[in-house]
Order: sequence, then structure tokens, then C-alpha cells
Amino acid sequence: MKSLIDIFDLSISELDELMNVALDIIENPIKYSEKCKGKKLATLFFEPSTRTRLSFEAAMYELGGHVLSMADAVSSSAAKGESVADTAKVISCYADIIAIRHPKEGAALVAANNASVPVINAGDGGHLHPTQTLADLMTIYRKKGSLNNLTIGFCGDLKFGRTVHSLAGAMSRYEGIKFVFISPEELKIPSFVKENFIAKNNIEYVQTTDLKSVMADLDILYMTRVQRERFFNEEDYLRLRDSYILTPPKLDTAKSDLLILHPLPRVNEISVAIDKDPRACYFEQVLNGKYMRMALILKLLEVE
Ligand code: NCD
Repeated sequence: MKSLIDIFDLSISELDELMNVALDIIENPIKYSEKCKGKKLATLFFEPSTRTRLSFEAAMYELGGHVLSMADAVSSSAAKGESVADTAKVISCYADIIAIRHPKEGAALVAANNASVPVINAGDGGHLHPTQTLADLMTIYRKKGSLNNLTIGFCGDLKFGRTVHSLAGAMSRYEGIKFVFISPEELKIPSFVKENFIAKNNIEYVQTTDLKSVMADLDILYMTRVQRERFFNEEDYLRLRDSYILTPPKLDTAKSDLLILHPLPRVNEISVAIDKDPRACYFEQVLNGKYMRMALILKLLEVE
């Protein structure tokens, strides 16, 4: 039984396989509409979510399966003090597969170590978010035709942005990749990402606080929200939240085939005027995320 806790739980060839299945689902949805008949997905969300939870649920419904949903911690036994380990054991008796989001780093791993069914990490604190990475990779692949030879700018909250950590890890395994990390001093990319992914794969990278000075170099601009819920005090959040607001004039020097990505939710960091720009791909990411989650559920449930 396999779980997805970290994007490195999937090899490059498994990622290719998931993208191929997702492309086939897009072409032939009917072929997949009963693949998970009789199977149940439990979504355990101990943190707010719109996209990720509903995307998992839509994915399971489109595969003909059922969904058991725990949308918030307040209404669950966690409010009575139940451990993640016990919850995982209990839910394994009801569901064939579990997607869990939790505010604590490592919670999904604890769930996987205690569940008797596959567990998917749908975000563990400010740590990792591998299924958003599946959406990101699919979007880059469909738009660029390859995941090699790209300069990727990550902009915003690189410290707490778990989608950034997982995507940087994933992209560090491809050829000809360069990273540009654009953030305020206080929100720089953490050392675990630099040591475990970037240094290990000898990836060239620069760090800057200035988006404008690097815009022309980028093939991909991955914007992120400042993660208010991870701040110790509101003043720091208020001071940093509008560090980068992408507006049309800021794209003056950008490449004509730049991809602008964002895991969403957007707060203020991309002006709505950018939405009309053909380089804006964040709503396509949402759709790709659903197809990749369908492919992932099929893989983890070992459905042919
Ligand atoms: C992201 C997350 O939860 O980390 N959202 C998502 O799943 N698409 C990004 C965010 O909340 O800023």
C-alpha cells in the first residue's frame, strides 16, 4: 500500500504516468466514470480549504466513487482531543483512501504510518502540499510541452508557502532548471528546501527581494499569498502582506510566453486586471488539479 506524503514518494516516471492518465481522463471521461464504483474516499480537513477538498471530492465522484467528508476540526473528535494516529486508524475502517489536511507539519506522515489504507497529504502546516504540485506540474507540462530547461521564479511567502516547497522539490529533479526566489527577507525559502532539494540536485538559484529586476529572466512566475495563519503576530502580517502585487505594468519586461501560476486563494498579490492576460494560468491549474487527483486516486487504489 502506497501513500503520497511528499512529492518524492513518486518517481519521475510515476509522475509521467499520472500526467498521461490525467490527459487520457480529459480525452475519455466516460471510460473512467465507474472506475471507483463502491470505493470511498474520506477527506479529513483540520484546516480551511475550498479547492483542495472539493477537488478531491469532485475527483472521486467523477470516478464513480463515494466521499465521506470531515470539513472542519471543530465538529470532529479532534475537538475532544483524539490523536491523528487514532483518527487515521478509525477512518481506515470506513474508507478505502484518506486525504488529510492538518495545521501540524508531519501530521499526514503520522496518519500514513497508522492507517491501513493509502493516505494523501493535502497540506501539512507550512511544510508540504504534494497534490498542488501535481496540478502545477500538469499545468507547466501542458503549456510548455516539457518540464525541462525552465527558469522558475517563486514570489511571496516562500517561508510558509508549502506549495512552493513541494514544487521546488519536484522541479529540482528535471534538467536545466534554475530557481529565482523573490521574497521579503523575513519570508525567505527555508533551509530544508535548500539543503534537501536544491543543493542535492545542484540547482542554480538566486535570491532577491526585487521582482522587477528578475522579471525578464523568468519562464514561470509562481505567485503566492502571504500565509496569515502561520504568523505569530498580526503586525508582521500586515507589514508584509502587500510586498508584491502583480499589476500589468510589472509585466512590461516579461517574456511573451511567461506562465503566471498561483495555487490560490489569491488575496491581493495578483491584480484582477492580470486575469485577462493569456499568460495567467491559475484557473487552469485548478482544473488540472482535479484531473491529477483522479489519476492519483486510481494509482493509489491500484485500479487498472
Ligand atoms: C494553498 C495551500 O493550502 O497551501 N492552497 C491550495 O491548496 N490551493 C495555498 C494557500 O493557501 O495559499
